Amino acid sequence: MTGPVPPGTGPLRLLVLGAGGRGAHAYAQWCLEHPEAARVVAVADPDLERRDHLGDAHGIPATQRFTDWREALSARGPWDAVIVATPDREHVDPTLRALELGHHVLLEKPIAPTLDELHRLTAAARRGPGTVTVAHVLRYTPFFRTLRRLLDEGRIGQLQGISHIENVAYWHFAHSYVRGNWHRADQSSPMLLAKACHDIDILRWLVGAPCVAVASFGERRHFREENAPKGSTERCVDGCAVADTCPYNAERLYVDQLATVHGPPVTVVTNDTSVAGRRRALRLTDYGRCVYRMDNDVVDHQTAALRFGNGVTASLVVSAFTAENTRTLVMMGSHGQITADMRAGRITVTPFLEAPPQLDAHRTNLALRLGTGSPSVEEEVTEAFTGHGGGDSGLMSDFTERVRRWMAGEDVGAAPSSLEESLESHLVAFAAERSRLSRTVEEL
Ligand SMILES: NC(=O)c1ccc[n+]([C@@H]2O[C@H](COP(=O)([O-])OP(=O)(O)OC[C@H]3O[C@@H](n4cnc5c(N)ncnc54)[C@H](O)[C@@H]3O)[C@@H](O)[C@H]2O)c1
Repeated sequence: MTGPVPPGTGPLRLLVLGAGGRGAHAYAQWCLEHPEAARVVAVADPDLERRDHLGDAHGIPATQRFTDWREALSARGPWDAVIVATPDREHVDPTLRALELGHHVLLEKPIAPTLDELHRLTAAARRGPGTVTVAHVLRYTPFFRTLRRLLDEGRIGQLQGISHIENVAYWHFAHSYVRGNWHRADQSSPMLLAKACHDIDILRWLVGAPCVAVASFGERRHFREENAPKGSTERCVDGCAVADTCPYNAERLYVDQLATVHGPPVTVVTNDTSVAGRRRALRLTDYGRCVYRMDNDVVDHQTAALRFGNGVTASLVVSAFTAENTRTLVMMGSHGQITADMRAGRITVTPFLEAPPQLDAHRTNLALRLGTGSPSVEEEVTEAFTGHGGGDSGLMSDFTERVRRWMAGEDVGAAPSSLEESLESHLVAFAAERSRLSRTVEEL
């Protein structure tokens, strides 16, 4: 005979709120691959197809499949922790309710779309006993952990500045920020918060001091009706005259270039990933609409200049207009520089002593290769949406292990991306948005 499982032993039991790109394809998928660590035992999503797809894959009984987070959190359920992977505007209330019930929460970023809600949530979390871990997945990547180690080891002397570019990629930006879920700030969040709260968080972590001032510029310059090419139509499939020359042609992207992809980003457009299903979605959903004729209002490029408390400065550029989807950095130190490309998994350390002006720099660099070399095009797409360079998996592994140990009464400390730790990135993002709109330098 077996008795009840003592707290903190056995796989962690999870409730997933929101069975979309993140809830189903990143976190629940990780549980399927790591059954010894965690099991999804309940799910909530008003999109019944998505909900049941996840429910079936995880063997979740009908009584544990809900149509709304409110229904799932009407009482404390038979789960140990809750994953909040609902849309941006549905983050705060489910998290508050889960905390009220005493659950530990893994909360998708951004934490909250407004400053008021951010404060409301932090106040509640401070009361405990549940905890909030924010899905700032970059903190868990081997790439950024290596950069941090190199700085800590003093490999480039004292850090002076960082130039950080988030290269969103023209097609990814069109997918998410022109046609997709994040195309309007009032329905989701300002672009910098939605896309780059991660990046602000990682800059603060690399610099090792709080940000004290920020100035920012950016606008929606390209994706506007006045830029629509002559002969273009409401939808790419309406006989658009520039279909062959427009890089944002939805039919080329979803039907041709992503033909072998049957997960995100295609499943964001349609659950039926057959050619006929894709073509149908292009006729019926925003994903088939002309990028110049959407009702989007978020900026398509933004730059922020940051000053940190220790005198380090950084520039953060987030742009739609890049060929690749990657993060690239130059870290400038008193005695050397580091250049890094996240997608390529390449970090190059160049101590100044080894880079005299008369030599070719590339012959003397010390290159650290991470990963296994250039991925194929298909792997690149999948990686960009589900892996975050190992960050998704690192986060889940840390979260499930930490909750298990908290439940067993161990003192394991706060998560690397705890709510307290993650808060500052959001305060900076809100300040950058104020600066952008009012042309001010914002002191923090
Ligand atoms: N950490 C990261 O790197 C990262 C990456 C992408 C997205 N995100 C964030 O993750 C969140 C989810 O993004 P996504 O790409 O999975 O979006 P998505 O639209 O694919 O999934 C969200 C799901 O929530 C469901 N939902 C809506 N209202 C609900 C309710 N009341 N109760 C339960 N479920 C509800 C929707 O039907 C949808 O299936 C967003 O806030 C997004 O900004 C984070």
